[in-house]
Amino acid sequence: MTADRITVGELQELLAGGWPVTVLDVRPPSDVDWEIPGAIHIDAYADLQSGRLGPLAELSLAQGPVVTVCGVGRTAAIATELLRANGVETLTLDGGMRSWSLAWNSAQTTICGCEVIQVRRTGKGCLSYIVESDSETVVIDASVEPKVYVRLIRERGWRLVAVADTHIHADHFSRSRRLAHLESAALLLPAQDRAQYPFRPVADGDRIAFGSSALVAMRTPGHTDESTTYVIDNTAAITGDTLFLNSVGRPDLEGGRQERASRARLLYTSVSRLLQLPEATQVFPGHVSEAIPFDGRMLGTTVGTIRDSVALTRLDSGEFVEAVLARIPPSPPNHSRIVEFNQRGELPEDPSELEAGANRCAVA
Ligand SMILES: [Fe+2]
Repeated sequence: MTADRITVGELQELLAGGWPVTVLDVRPPSDVDWEIPGAIHIDAYADLQSGRLGPLAELSLAQGPVVTVCGVGRTAAIATELLRANGVETLTLDGGMRSWSLAWNSAQTTICGCEVIQVRRTGKGCLSYIVESDSETVVIDASVEPKVYVRLIRERGWRLVAVADTHIHADHFSRSRRLAHLESAALLLPAQDRAQYPFRPVADGDRIAFGSSALVAMRTPGHTDESTTYVIDNTAAITGDTLFLNSVGRPDLEGGRQERASRARLLYTSVSRLLQLPEATQVFPGHVSEAIPFDGRMLGTTVGTIRDSVALTRLDSGEFVEAVLARIPPSPPNHSRIVEFNQRGELPEDPSELEAGANRCAVA
């Protein structure tokens, strides 16, 4: 922390530790597609650009420092300077929301004797998983810096044996290849011919053994052709972008427009197959569509809850396809460039430049 700046890592630690802090987001409302949990939004952008506090002058602040945030940190720095001149303890979030895209937090639970840590990119909604049995672990859908997983695994005395992806991602760079390389672990991807680097292909029904447990692969195409769900002991399903907490994956990001309907039909079959799992089966998706709180609570639901509450899942095949195609959201920014990197197994020097912003892998 310098005199008037705070890094993403430092703010993440304050929020994770429950310290009092007021996050003041000064972006114009039209730029707000994602936020920091608990942030207060005050549209002072135009005033700040003219060197005035505007509505921020009226602010009554709770205890703790104020952390100002904007897109990349420039306008927030003006707010910080003006607030500090008024005697308010204020810090600017270095790099703004673009850098916040890499912030993360975690939650942990036990499933059939396996420890499961959900590692969440709070600034983007991506969920990844460390699954442990007898001190051996598998990481699924690594989406934050590899050193984060290495630290979480090593500080518990565990060992990484495999890294697996549910599909070739379009909204973030997969860190799986780098993580597997760092720890000399196996790299597993659903069988397909798009990835241009060595990996162990996973087919429907394959068992990925670790400790005294195993993940069973269930091919669930639709969101992408290769999309695969990993099932732990018929008790929990890590569903990637096939099935979310209250929606399903979008079927349109790969292939042409005319393929959308056939992919949506595949998605219907895959979702129906997942919903045939026992109703108490926990569902842990690859994304959520809101900023993830620093509350340590797992984000998940059950097959039974989805059957009862997600209207899309009660439609027949024709209705499902029609409803999904009618609700396709705008394509995620930069998705084709991100896919190219993921197919080559590469990471750009500054991932946040292409990754920043909300994920859009779900049909609302
Ligand atoms: Fe996806």
